[in-house]
Amino acid sequence: MICRSVLLSVIAVYTASAFAHDNLLRRASPSNAAEFAQLRGSSKQCADYGIPALNKMVHDHEFPKVGKIASILEHDDDARALYNSIQHQIPNIGVRESKSHHTEFGDDTKQYPESDPDCWWSMSGCHKPKHDTIPADVYQCPGKGTWGLTFDDGPYCAQNKLYNFLQEQDLRATMFFIGGNVINSPFQAQRALVDGHDICGHTWSHKLMTTLSNEQVFAELYYTAKAIKKIVGVTPRCWRPPQGDVDDRVRAIATALGMHTIMWQEDTNDWQLGEGASRKKIAHNYHKIFEKANHESPIVLTHELPKTMSEFIRMYPDMKAAYKHVVPVSACVNATNPYPEQITYPTMQQFVSGQRASQGLPSGERIRVNPDAKPTFTPTNNQQNSFS
Ligand SMILES: *[C@@H]1O[C@H](CO)[C@@H](O)[C@H](O)[C@H]1NC(C)=O
Repeated sequence: MICRSVLLSVIAVYTASAFAHDNLLRRASPSNAAEFAQLRGSSKQCADYGIPALNKMVHDHEFPKVGKIASILEHDDDARALYNSIQHQIPNIGVRESKSHHTEFGDDTKQYPESDPDCWWSMSGCHKPKHDTIPADVYQCPGKGTWGLTFDDGPYCAQNKLYNFLQEQDLRATMFFIGGNVINSPFQAQRALVDGHDICGHTWSHKLMTTLSNEQVFAELYYTAKAIKKIVGVTPRCWRPPQGDVDDRVRAIATALGMHTIMWQEDTNDWQLGEGASRKKIAHNYHKIFEKANHESPIVLTHELPKTMSEFIRMYPDMKAAYKHVVPVSACVNATNPYPEQITYPTMQQFVSGQRASQGLPSGERIRVNPDAKPTFTPTNNQQNSFS
Protein backbone atom coordinates (compact mmCIF):
# COMPACT_ATOMS: atom_id res chain seq x y z
CA MET A 1 0.00 0.00 0.00
CA ILE A 2 2.80 2.35 0.81
CA CYS A 3 4.28 1.83 -2.62
CA ARG A 4 0.97 2.51 -4.30
CA SER A 5 0.45 5.83 -2.56
CA VAL A 6 3.94 6.90 -3.56
CA LEU A 7 3.07 6.01 -7.14
CA LEU A 8 -0.14 8.03 -6.94
CA SER A 9 1.69 11.07 -5.73
CA VAL A 10 4.11 10.77 -8.64
CA ILE A 11 1.17 10.65 -11.01
CA ALA A 12 -0.26 13.68 -9.23
CA VAL A 13 2.94 15.56 -9.96
CA TYR A 14 2.60 14.68 -13.63
CA THR A 15 -1.04 15.86 -13.53
CA ALA A 16 0.16 19.32 -12.77
CA SER A 17 2.71 19.21 -15.57
CA ALA A 18 2.30 19.74 -19.26
CA PHE A 19 1.28 16.15 -20.09
CA ALA A 20 -1.72 15.92 -22.38
CA HIS A 21 -4.83 14.45 -20.79
CA ASP A 22 -4.81 11.21 -22.82
CA ASN A 23 -1.20 10.54 -21.82
CA LEU A 24 -2.33 10.59 -18.22
CA LEU A 25 -4.81 7.81 -18.77
CA ARG A 26 -2.11 5.67 -20.30
CA ARG A 27 0.35 4.04 -17.93
CA ALA A 28 3.96 5.08 -18.20
CA SER A 29 5.12 1.54 -18.91
CA PRO A 30 3.43 -1.47 -20.51
CA SER A 31 1.61 -3.80 -18.14
CA ASN A 32 1.40 -6.79 -20.49
CA ALA A 33 2.77 -8.12 -23.78
CA ALA A 34 -0.13 -6.63 -25.78
CA GLU A 35 0.57 -3.14 -24.43
CA PHE A 36 4.27 -3.65 -25.04
CA ALA A 37 3.57 -4.51 -28.69
CA GLN A 38 1.98 -1.06 -29.18
CA LEU A 39 5.15 0.83 -28.24
CA ARG A 40 7.17 2.65 -30.87
CA GLY A 41 10.73 3.88 -30.60
CA SER A 42 13.59 2.24 -28.79
CA SER A 43 13.67 4.45 -25.70
CA LYS A 44 10.09 3.53 -24.82
CA GLN A 45 10.59 -0.15 -25.58
CA CYS A 46 13.87 -0.36 -23.72
CA ALA A 47 12.71 1.59 -20.67
CA ASP A 48 12.74 -0.45 -17.50
CA TYR A 49 9.36 -1.88 -16.57
CA GLY A 50 8.96 -4.12 -13.60
CA ILE A 51 6.96 -7.30 -13.33
CA PRO A 52 6.64 -7.84 -9.57
CA ALA A 53 6.40 -11.66 -9.80
CA LEU A 54 9.59 -11.75 -11.89
CA ASN A 55 11.44 -9.24 -9.72
CA LYS A 56 10.68 -11.42 -6.73
CA MET A 57 12.08 -14.53 -8.42
CA VAL A 58 15.26 -12.67 -9.32
CA HIS A 59 15.50 -11.30 -5.79
CA ASP A 60 15.02 -14.84 -4.38
CA HIS A 61 17.94 -16.13 -6.52
CA GLU A 62 15.82 -18.45 -8.62
CA PHE A 63 18.09 -17.75 -11.60
CA PRO A 64 21.83 -17.37 -12.09
CA LYS A 65 23.18 -13.83 -12.45
CA VAL A 66 22.41 -12.36 -15.87
CA GLY A 67 25.49 -12.38 -18.10
CA LYS A 68 27.45 -14.78 -15.87
CA ILE A 69 28.20 -18.43 -16.64
CA ALA A 70 25.46 -20.53 -15.02
CA SER A 71 26.07 -23.36 -12.60
CA ILE A 72 23.58 -25.23 -10.45
CA LEU A 73 22.36 -22.86 -7.74
CA GLU A 74 22.73 -23.71 -4.09
CA HIS A 75 19.59 -25.34 -2.66
CA ASP A 76 18.21 -26.02 -6.16
CA ASP A 77 17.29 -29.63 -5.41
CA ASP A 78 15.22 -30.04 -8.61
CA ALA A 79 18.15 -29.08 -10.82
CA ARG A 80 20.65 -31.15 -8.81
CA ALA A 81 18.45 -34.26 -8.93
CA LEU A 82 17.89 -33.91 -12.67
CA TYR A 83 21.61 -33.37 -13.27
CA ASN A 84 22.47 -36.46 -11.23
CA SER A 85 19.93 -38.53 -13.14
CA ILE A 86 21.46 -37.83 -16.56
CA GLN A 87 25.11 -38.59 -15.69
CA HIS A 88 25.14 -41.97 -17.43
CA GLN A 89 24.09 -40.33 -20.70
CA ILE A 90 27.08 -37.98 -20.91
CA PRO A 91 30.00 -39.40 -22.91
CA ASN A 92 33.46 -39.07 -21.47
CA ILE A 93 34.78 -36.22 -23.64
CA GLY A 94 37.17 -33.58 -22.30
CA VAL A 95 36.33 -29.94 -21.68
CA ARG A 96 38.07 -27.78 -24.31
CA GLU A 97 40.56 -25.12 -23.31
CA SER A 98 39.42 -21.53 -23.58
CA LYS A 99 40.75 -17.98 -23.63
CA SER A 100 39.13 -14.61 -22.99
CA HIS A 101 36.29 -15.73 -20.74
CA HIS A 102 35.07 -18.67 -22.81
CA THR A 103 34.58 -16.71 -26.01
CA GLU A 104 37.75 -18.04 -27.73
CA PHE A 105 39.39 -21.46 -27.87
CA GLY A 106 42.73 -22.21 -26.28
CA ASP A 107 45.58 -24.02 -27.99
CA ASP A 108 44.32 -27.58 -27.54
CA THR A 109 42.30 -27.26 -30.76
CA LYS A 110 45.60 -28.03 -32.54
CA GLN A 111 45.71 -31.46 -30.91
CA TYR A 112 42.16 -32.42 -31.84
CA PRO A 113 42.33 -35.51 -34.13
CA GLU A 114 41.32 -35.12 -37.76
CA SER A 115 39.12 -38.19 -37.40
CA ASP A 116 36.78 -35.92 -35.38
CA PRO A 117 35.83 -38.52 -32.73
CA ASP A 118 33.40 -36.17 -30.95
CA CYS A 119 31.64 -34.55 -33.92
CA TRP A 120 32.95 -31.18 -32.79
CA TRP A 121 31.31 -28.73 -35.17
CA SER A 122 33.76 -25.90 -34.52
CA MET A 123 36.61 -28.06 -35.84
CA SER A 124 34.93 -30.06 -38.58
CA GLY A 125 31.45 -28.74 -39.33
CA CYS A 126 30.10 -32.14 -38.17
CA HIS A 127 26.31 -32.45 -37.78
CA LYS A 128 25.93 -36.21 -37.30
CA PRO A 129 26.92 -37.35 -33.80
CA LYS A 130 29.54 -40.09 -33.46
CA HIS A 131 27.99 -41.24 -30.20
CA ASP A 132 24.78 -43.27 -30.12
CA THR A 133 21.35 -42.04 -29.03
CA ILE A 134 21.99 -38.39 -29.87
CA PRO A 135 19.82 -37.08 -32.73
CA ALA A 136 21.58 -35.39 -35.64
CA ASP A 137 21.63 -31.60 -35.73
CA VAL A 138 18.96 -29.92 -37.84
CA TYR A 139 20.60 -27.45 -40.24
CA GLN A 140 18.52 -27.48 -43.40
CA CYS A 141 14.90 -27.77 -44.47
CA PRO A 142 13.98 -31.03 -46.22
CA GLY A 143 11.64 -29.50 -48.82
CA LYS A 144 12.75 -27.57 -51.91
CA GLY A 145 13.12 -23.78 -52.30
CA THR A 146 12.82 -23.16 -48.58
CA TRP A 147 14.55 -20.58 -46.37
CA GLY A 148 14.55 -21.52 -42.67
CA LEU A 149 14.16 -18.19 -40.89
CA THR A 150 16.00 -17.95 -37.56
CA PHE A 151 17.06 -15.11 -35.26
CA ASP A 152 19.69 -15.50 -32.53
CA ASP A 153 20.43 -13.53 -29.36
CA GLY A 154 16.99 -12.11 -28.56
CA PRO A 155 14.89 -10.96 -27.07
CA TYR A 156 16.24 -7.52 -27.91
CA CYS A 157 14.39 -4.79 -26.02
CA ALA A 158 13.44 -2.70 -29.09
CA GLN A 159 12.07 -5.57 -31.14
CA ASN A 160 8.67 -4.22 -32.20
CA LYS A 161 9.68 -3.01 -35.64
CA LEU A 162 10.89 -6.50 -36.56
CA TYR A 163 7.98 -8.31 -34.93
CA ASN A 164 5.45 -5.93 -36.51
CA PHE A 165 7.05 -6.56 -39.88
CA LEU A 166 6.90 -10.34 -39.41
CA GLN A 167 3.23 -9.95 -38.46
CA GLU A 168 2.41 -7.77 -41.49
CA GLN A 169 4.08 -10.27 -43.82
CA ASP A 170 2.39 -13.23 -42.09
CA LEU A 171 5.83 -14.68 -41.34
CA ARG A 172 6.93 -16.84 -38.44
CA ALA A 173 10.52 -17.37 -37.36
CA THR A 174 12.52 -19.47 -34.93
CA MET A 175 13.82 -17.34 -32.07
CA PHE A 176 16.87 -18.45 -30.12
CA PHE A 177 16.62 -16.62 -26.82
CA ILE A 178 19.42 -15.99 -24.33
CA GLY A 179 18.19 -16.76 -20.80
CA GLY A 180 19.49 -13.51 -19.35
CA ASN A 181 17.73 -11.52 -22.09
CA VAL A 182 14.42 -13.23 -21.27
CA ILE A 183 14.83 -12.00 -17.67
CA ASN A 184 15.62 -8.47 -18.87
CA SER A 185 12.94 -8.29 -21.60
CA PRO A 186 10.04 -10.47 -20.42
CA PHE A 187 7.19 -8.85 -22.40
CA GLN A 188 9.36 -9.05 -25.51
CA ALA A 189 9.87 -12.77 -24.91
CA GLN A 190 6.14 -13.24 -24.38
CA ARG A 191 5.33 -11.38 -27.58
CA ALA A 192 7.36 -13.95 -29.53
CA LEU A 193 5.11 -16.78 -28.37
CA VAL A 194 1.90 -14.76 -28.70
CA ASP A 195 2.85 -14.01 -32.33
CA GLY A 196 3.36 -17.70 -33.09
CA HIS A 197 7.13 -17.82 -33.44
CA ASP A 198 9.20 -20.81 -32.29
CA ILE A 199 10.89 -20.27 -28.94
CA CYS A 200 14.22 -22.06 -28.56
CA GLY A 201 17.06 -21.66 -26.07
CA HIS A 202 20.38 -19.98 -26.83
CA THR A 203 22.00 -20.67 -23.41
CA TRP A 204 22.12 -18.53 -20.31
CA SER A 205 25.27 -16.49 -20.93
CA HIS A 206 26.25 -17.11 -24.57
CA LYS A 207 29.64 -18.78 -24.08
CA LEU A 208 31.47 -21.49 -26.05
CA MET A 209 29.71 -24.56 -24.67
CA THR A 210 32.50 -27.07 -25.31
CA THR A 211 34.75 -25.04 -22.98
CA LEU A 212 32.34 -25.39 -20.04
CA SER A 213 32.09 -28.26 -17.55
CA ASN A 214 29.22 -30.75 -17.70
CA GLU A 215 27.51 -29.00 -14.83
CA GLN A 216 27.88 -25.58 -16.45
CA VAL A 217 26.53 -26.83 -19.80
CA PHE A 218 23.58 -28.38 -17.96
CA ALA A 219 22.91 -25.17 -16.00
CA GLU A 220 23.20 -22.95 -19.10
CA LEU A 221 20.46 -24.99 -20.78
CA TYR A 222 18.41 -25.71 -17.68
CA TYR A 223 18.04 -22.15 -16.39
CA THR A 224 17.29 -20.80 -19.85
CA ALA A 225 14.45 -23.31 -20.11
CA LYS A 226 13.32 -22.44 -16.59
CA ALA A 227 13.21 -18.71 -17.41
CA ILE A 228 11.30 -19.35 -20.65
CA LYS A 229 8.83 -21.61 -18.83
CA LYS A 230 8.13 -19.24 -15.94
CA ILE A 231 7.98 -16.11 -18.10
CA VAL A 232 6.60 -17.33 -21.43
CA GLY A 233 4.86 -20.55 -20.32
CA VAL A 234 6.50 -23.13 -22.60
CA THR A 235 9.42 -25.55 -22.32
CA PRO A 236 11.72 -25.27 -25.34
CA ARG A 237 12.58 -28.46 -27.25
CA CYS A 238 15.24 -26.82 -29.37
CA TRP A 239 18.41 -24.87 -28.77
CA ARG A 240 21.30 -23.44 -30.73
CA PRO A 241 24.86 -23.32 -29.40
CA PRO A 242 26.49 -19.85 -29.41
CA GLN A 243 28.98 -19.62 -32.29
CA GLY A 244 27.78 -23.12 -33.24
CA ASP A 245 30.15 -24.60 -30.70
CA VAL A 246 28.90 -28.10 -29.94
CA ASP A 247 30.30 -31.61 -29.63
CA ASP A 248 28.79 -34.92 -28.54
CA ARG A 249 29.28 -34.17 -24.85
CA VAL A 250 27.29 -30.95 -25.09
CA ARG A 251 24.71 -32.53 -27.44
CA ALA A 252 24.20 -35.42 -25.01
CA ILE A 253 23.34 -33.02 -22.17
CA ALA A 254 20.90 -31.11 -24.40
CA THR A 255 19.37 -34.40 -25.57
CA ALA A 256 18.81 -35.52 -21.97
CA LEU A 257 16.98 -32.22 -21.39
CA GLY A 258 14.84 -32.84 -24.46
CA MET A 259 16.45 -30.16 -26.62
CA HIS A 260 17.28 -30.73 -30.27
CA THR A 261 20.35 -28.97 -31.59
CA ILE A 262 19.41 -26.56 -34.41
CA MET A 263 22.31 -25.29 -36.51
CA TRP A 264 22.42 -23.51 -39.86
CA GLN A 265 23.57 -24.25 -43.37
CA GLU A 266 24.06 -20.61 -44.39
CA ASP A 267 25.27 -17.65 -42.37
CA THR A 268 24.56 -14.03 -43.25
CA ASN A 269 27.25 -12.89 -40.77
CA ASP A 270 24.90 -9.99 -40.15
CA TRP A 271 26.23 -9.56 -36.58
CA GLN A 272 29.28 -7.90 -38.17
CA LEU A 273 27.05 -4.85 -38.80
CA GLY A 274 27.46 -4.14 -35.11
CA GLU A 275 31.26 -4.36 -35.49
CA GLY A 276 31.51 -1.85 -38.30
CA ALA A 277 30.89 -4.01 -41.38
CA SER A 278 29.14 -2.13 -44.19
CA ARG A 279 25.54 -2.86 -45.14
CA LYS A 280 26.82 -3.47 -48.64
CA LYS A 281 28.98 -6.33 -47.41
CA ILE A 282 26.15 -7.97 -45.47
CA ALA A 283 23.71 -7.47 -48.36
CA HIS A 284 26.27 -9.27 -50.52
CA ASN A 285 26.28 -12.18 -48.05
CA TYR A 286 22.48 -12.37 -48.27
CA HIS A 287 22.56 -12.27 -52.06
CA LYS A 288 25.06 -15.14 -52.20
CA ILE A 289 22.48 -17.22 -50.33
CA PHE A 290 19.64 -16.05 -52.61
CA GLU A 291 21.63 -17.44 -55.54
CA LYS A 292 21.50 -20.93 -54.00
CA ALA A 293 17.70 -21.13 -53.94
CA ASN A 294 17.57 -23.71 -56.75
CA HIS A 295 19.75 -26.28 -55.04
CA GLU A 296 19.60 -25.61 -51.30
CA SER A 297 16.98 -25.20 -48.59
CA PRO A 298 19.13 -23.77 -45.86
CA ILE A 299 18.34 -22.86 -42.30
CA VAL A 300 19.90 -19.41 -42.24
CA LEU A 301 21.53 -17.62 -39.34
CA THR A 302 20.43 -14.02 -38.74
CA HIS A 303 20.24 -12.04 -35.51
CA GLU A 304 17.75 -10.11 -33.37
CA LEU A 305 20.11 -7.18 -32.85
CA PRO A 306 19.58 -3.48 -33.61
CA LYS A 307 21.18 -3.28 -37.07
CA THR A 308 20.53 -6.84 -38.15
CA MET A 309 16.75 -6.62 -37.74
CA SER A 310 16.44 -3.71 -40.17
CA GLU A 311 18.84 -5.41 -42.56
CA PHE A 312 16.56 -8.44 -42.65
CA ILE A 313 13.57 -6.19 -43.38
CA ARG A 314 15.50 -4.57 -46.22
CA MET A 315 16.52 -7.96 -47.65
CA TYR A 316 13.13 -9.64 -47.38
CA PRO A 317 11.67 -8.66 -50.79
CA ASP A 318 14.63 -10.27 -52.58
CA MET A 319 14.53 -13.27 -50.26
CA LYS A 320 10.88 -13.79 -51.05
CA ALA A 321 11.57 -13.50 -54.76
CA ALA A 322 14.37 -16.09 -54.59
CA TYR A 323 12.89 -18.63 -52.18
CA LYS A 324 9.43 -20.04 -52.64
CA HIS A 325 8.94 -20.53 -48.89
CA VAL A 326 10.28 -18.57 -45.93
CA VAL A 327 9.36 -20.60 -42.86
CA PRO A 328 10.27 -21.23 -39.23
CA VAL A 329 12.16 -24.44 -38.39
CA SER A 330 9.08 -25.95 -36.74
CA ALA A 331 7.17 -25.83 -40.05
CA CYS A 332 9.94 -27.13 -42.25
CA VAL A 333 10.44 -30.26 -40.11
CA ASN A 334 6.74 -30.70 -39.25
CA ALA A 335 7.39 -30.05 -35.56
CA THR A 336 3.73 -29.57 -34.72
CA ASN A 337 4.52 -30.04 -31.01
CA PRO A 338 7.54 -27.80 -30.49
CA TYR A 339 6.80 -27.76 -26.74
CA PRO A 340 5.39 -30.39 -24.38
CA GLU A 341 2.57 -27.96 -23.52
CA GLN A 342 -0.79 -28.08 -25.31
CA ILE A 343 0.04 -25.87 -28.28
CA THR A 344 -0.08 -27.10 -31.87
CA TYR A 345 1.90 -25.52 -34.68
CA PRO A 346 1.13 -25.99 -38.40
CA THR A 347 2.77 -28.65 -40.55
CA MET A 348 4.82 -27.51 -43.54
CA GLN A 349 1.89 -28.30 -45.81
CA GLN A 350 -0.52 -26.24 -43.70
CA PHE A 351 1.98 -23.42 -43.35
CA VAL A 352 2.60 -23.00 -47.07
CA SER A 353 -1.10 -23.24 -47.85
CA GLY A 354 -1.65 -20.22 -45.59
CA GLN A 355 -2.83 -21.95 -42.39
CA ARG A 356 -0.17 -20.36 -40.28
CA ALA A 357 -1.91 -19.87 -36.94
CA SER A 358 -0.90 -22.10 -34.05
CA GLN A 359 -3.62 -23.57 -31.83
CA GLY A 360 -3.59 -22.95 -28.10
CA LEU A 361 -1.43 -19.84 -27.93
CA PRO A 362 -2.09 -17.34 -25.12
CA SER A 363 -3.12 -13.77 -25.99
CA GLY A 364 -0.90 -10.78 -25.33
CA GLU A 365 -3.41 -9.53 -22.74
CA ARG A 366 -3.53 -12.78 -20.81
CA ILE A 367 -0.03 -14.24 -20.93
CA ARG A 368 1.46 -14.02 -17.43
CA VAL A 369 4.68 -14.66 -15.58
CA ASN A 370 3.98 -17.71 -13.44
CA PRO A 371 6.45 -18.35 -10.60
CA ASP A 372 4.88 -21.76 -9.95
CA ALA A 373 5.36 -23.08 -13.49
CA LYS A 374 7.98 -25.79 -13.90
CA PRO A 375 9.53 -26.91 -17.19
CA THR A 376 8.75 -30.43 -18.40
CA PHE A 377 11.90 -32.09 -19.71
CA THR A 378 11.07 -35.00 -22.01
CA PRO A 379 14.17 -36.73 -23.44
CA THR A 380 14.25 -36.28 -27.22
CA ASN A 381 13.63 -39.97 -27.99
CA ASN A 382 10.32 -39.82 -26.07
CA GLN A 383 9.00 -36.82 -28.01
CA GLN A 384 6.47 -36.95 -30.82
CA ASN A 385 6.09 -34.42 -33.64
CA SER A 386 9.11 -32.53 -32.38
CA PHE A 387 12.26 -31.37 -34.20
CA SER A 388 13.41 -34.74 -35.55
C1 LIG B 1 5.76 -33.32 -43.32
O1 LIG B 1 4.50 -33.90 -43.43
C2 LIG B 1 4.05 -34.09 -44.77
C3 LIG B 1 2.65 -34.64 -44.70
O2 LIG B 1 1.82 -33.70 -44.05
C4 LIG B 1 5.01 -35.01 -45.52
O3 LIG B 1 4.60 -35.13 -46.85
C5 LIG B 1 6.41 -34.45 -45.45
O4 LIG B 1 7.32 -35.36 -46.01
C6 LIG B 1 6.80 -34.20 -43.99
N1 LIG B 1 8.10 -33.56 -43.95
C7 LIG B 1 9.03 -33.93 -43.08
C8 LIG B 1 10.30 -33.17 -43.13
O5 LIG B 1 8.88 -34.82 -42.28
